[in-house]
Amino acid sequence: MVKEIRKKIENYLSTKRLLHTFNVEKIATEIARKYEVDETKIAVASLLHDIAKDIRLDESLRIIKDNKLEIPDIYIKNPDLIHSFLGAFIASSEFGIDDTEILDSIRYHTLGKENMGIIPLIVYIADFIDPNKEVEKSIKNLILKEALSGYIYRAALLVCVEKIKYVVSEMKYMDTDTVFFYNFLCENEKKCLLPSS
Ligand SMILES: [Fe+2]
Ligand SMILES: [Fe+2]
Repeated sequence: MVKEIRKKIENYLSTKRLLHTFNVEKIATEIARKYEVDETKIAVASLLHDIAKDIRLDESLRIIKDNKLEIPDIYIKNPDLIHSFLGAFIASSEFGIDDTEILDSIRYHTLGKENMGIIPLIVYIADFIDPNKEVEKSIKNLILKEALSGYIYRAALLVCVEKIKYVVSEMKYMDTDTVFFYNFLCENEKKCLLPSS
């Protein structure tokens, strides 16, 4: 299944995006090995997280309209985020994915969501610390260190803070899901999830 998806996504993604996707898969798998999570789900979620990213905006809106998808307002206010909403739809309709953890990983990898499970959290983190992403290396290293040490919520909190800083600095619309997500991570950041803890 993973092998087939790895091949099929070549029809959807640019070379640059494929490279990012494979980096995310590698990092997410490394983190997942520390926790008792399904590595196949991690691989599939990582491979599909940006499946809609290379679809043009007009085409994305057409797919949403044609399929009568109810898209939350935040995605219209910030079209950069549409690919996460649309990606979950494409994963389901074109790749036959019906697993909630995988679909949540795709849908919420940009904004996050309160009570997010461990698989979506790992994908959210791995997406941000791709070595090719323009984020300060020391921050990426710290995030990875926390994630590998069992502090998955703290790692996600560090990512969330960086994203919030960006949204505020650009004076972009802040989604309420992100605020609830931030508070959820604050409440849990001291928890260590490694079996030895
Ligand atoms: Fe993305
Ligand atoms: Fe991504």
